[in-house]
Amino acid sequence: MTASANTGPLIVAVGGGKGGVGKSMVAANLACAMSQLGFRVVAVDADLGSANLHTILGVDHPGPGIAGFLQKQVSTLEDVVIPSPQRRLFVVPGSTAIPGAANLMHARKLKLMRHIRRLDAEAVVIDCGAGINYNVIDFFNLADLRLLVLTPQLVSLQNAYGALKASLYRTVRQHCSAHGQAALFDELAAPSETDRLLQLIEAIRTRDAELAAALTWVLDGYRVSLIGNQLQSKADQGPLRAMTRMIADFLAVRSPLSTVLPRSDRIHTSVSRRRPFVADSSETPEARALLSLAETLLETDITSLRRRSEPVRASERSSGVHPLPPQEFLEAELPEPLAHYRRAHERHNVDWPVALEHHGRWQRAKLADVSMGGIAVVGASDLGEGDTVNLVFQLNGEELALSTRVVHCSDDRFGAQFVKQADPQAVRRLVEAARQANAGRAA
Ligand SMILES: Nc1ncnc2c1ncn2[C@@H]1O[C@H](COP(=O)(O)OP(=O)(O)O)[C@@H](O)[C@H]1O
Ligand SMILES: [Mg+2]
Repeated sequence: MTASANTGPLIVAVGGGKGGVGKSMVAANLACAMSQLGFRVVAVDADLGSANLHTILGVDHPGPGIAGFLQKQVSTLEDVVIPSPQRRLFVVPGSTAIPGAANLMHARKLKLMRHIRRLDAEAVVIDCGAGINYNVIDFFNLADLRLLVLTPQLVSLQNAYGALKASLYRTVRQHCSAHGQAALFDELAAPSETDRLLQLIEAIRTRDAELAAALTWVLDGYRVSLIGNQLQSKADQGPLRAMTRMIADFLAVRSPLSTVLPRSDRIHTSVSRRRPFVADSSETPEARALLSLAETLLETDITSLRRRSEPVRASERSSGVHPLPPQEFLEAELPEPLAHYRRAHERHNVDWPVALEHHGRWQRAKLADVSMGGIAVVGASDLGEGDTVNLVFQLNGEELALSTRVVHCSDDRFGAQFVKQADPQAVRRLVEAARQANAGRAA
């Protein structure tokens, strides 16, 4: 992990809109998984509506908790950190008994955030709570990495989308504000006309190109992954993957489905028994999924991500307050029926040799499947999510080159999307050739 004493802990926020989808269960088990990997972890219950993280983690006497800090019974957040039954895992318990807590004063929230960043830990997992209010959004945005927990149910998808949309619009507005351009945002971001965040940024570009470039850079570093919970069949992944596509199209960020958890008695019982299932066994599929998620998150280079939120943090220190974006952004609905996003591009299996170039290094591999959206390749090494890879291959005696961006990797296989600049003509020819090759094989 790259977090160190002077950068502060890696901060992961768990959000998702709707209550009951499993945010606290994911936060508790993720924190536990990180502690099992040898890291000192604090789980912070920022759900000021229904605080139960400490209960799920088996803590009986929560002490003053976050309320004690907010009501100034103690002077630092560190003072309310208490141990959990798990080694290396600590908790800042939440509270439901803070008057007006659901809409914390901005100044108090900023102070809480500063103290979270200073906790004596290598990783902090924040349970952001349900609903879409500015507490939830700000804790979600504060983090280095964000997990959006959702189930395949439409209401859950709707809430998760709304929460993410509100968080992103708030981020964009805060950056506009830090550049002295809050009024420009308010002028251009009329809700009905800016369903697509990219359109808004393009509108900003016509007036302030430098700001638009900064926003693009910020959104590129906005890390959010989907955690699908309570799945009952493989088919349940369909709406979740559709969600990833919808988010890319409308909200201009990548949100890979990084973990899926089944609806299971083991998970349900662990919550009732008040002991994370990860603590019971690392061998169950649920535990393996959480441990692997923890590993991935802990490997992230947070220093480079943090540079992208610097303007907002700097202006937080100086002005203390950011005006809020219009209320309408908090009431987002899915911009289109999800069904439109259900069908990914048809894939065609192939087994074609391909040459890959990444940062000037060439290697040979096999193209495994092809669609209008991207490709899968086997036999390549040393590539990671986000890498740009150029493919060169022979098609009917002619050389074709296409630029792609890696979206997921496993062992020696990776999936990549064509980058926007990729030659659409070449993509079509490639897909058509793959389709014909398959038709030929079937005949
Ligand atoms: N994958 C799952 N399988 C079975 N029960 C689950 C699962 N995920 C969550 N639950 C149950 O749903 C309830 C709500 O979970 P919780 O994590 O408290 O949700 P949230 O924090 O989003 O409100 C808990 O009783 C939990 O046992
Ligand atoms: Mg909860």
